[in-house]
Amino acid sequence: MVPAHVGIIMDGNGRWAQRRGLFRTQGHLEGLKTAKKIVKAAADLGISYLTLFTFSTENWKRSAEEVGFIISLVKEYLRRELDFYRENRIRIRHTGNLEGLPPDIRSEMNLACSETAEFSGLQVILAFNYGGRDEILRAVKKIIDKGIKNPAESDIAANLDNPDIPDPDLIIRTAGEFRTSNFLLWEGAYAEYYISDKLWPDWESADLIRAVDEYKNRDRRFGGIMIK
Ligand code: IPE
Ligand code: IPE
Ligand code: MG
Repeated sequence: MVPAHVGIIMDGNGRWAQRRGLFRTQGHLEGLKTAKKIVKAAADLGISYLTLFTFSTENWKRSAEEVGFIISLVKEYLRRELDFYRENRIRIRHTGNLEGLPPDIRSEMNLACSETAEFSGLQVILAFNYGGRDEILRAVKKIIDKGIKNPAESDIAANLDNPDIPDPDLIIRTAGEFRTSNFLLWEGAYAEYYISDKLWPDWESADLIRAVDEYKNRDRRFGGIMIK
């Protein structure tokens, strides 16, 4: 079966640029083009949810120039691609800490989400200023605010950013790195991982198809035993 929810840690933009003697920012520009291609490919494959790790709560450690560039890039992209979302009935959603972001990007994000809220095609969840620990911490604070004294796992799940979205089935990481870097820590507990050596700007729809094909051959046991 095609995975319902795929998460992608889009890594390797900087290396892609550095290998060509370009500024890291050029790599982010190229990575954005790839993101659009892969969104289209995911829709064509019949994937229902695609979570893209766009900017992490740890990425603030980078130079102000690089951080500023990524934030403006996402801001522009949200507005520029509204027609593309409409044509393809794509719904944009957000996960992450909106409060920690400048007001202009916050409002662009809210606008893209509200303008596309009725679309029933692929849902693209932008993990922007996202950290798995931060998301869990914010859920815990909501639970405290609600006065829940003895929370169950279901209370945490219900207080994450998008409780209606099913857990990711497949998490892809590009650029050959074997770590989560704080991505979907709670939701990804039983995700299948797929690591690609290719840098994100070099990714193509065929790479997504390959990852999904490999996923189809995995035995997911969820702690149980294999039934064949
Ligand atoms: C991923 O590419 C994009 C973001 C983290 C925003 P990187 O910028 O991390 O690229 P590398 O890992 O330095 O090659
Ligand atoms: C993860 O990549 C974050 C995003 C893809 C947005 P990083 O490049 O920030 O992760 P590390 O630093 O290699 O763990
Ligand atoms: Mg990286």
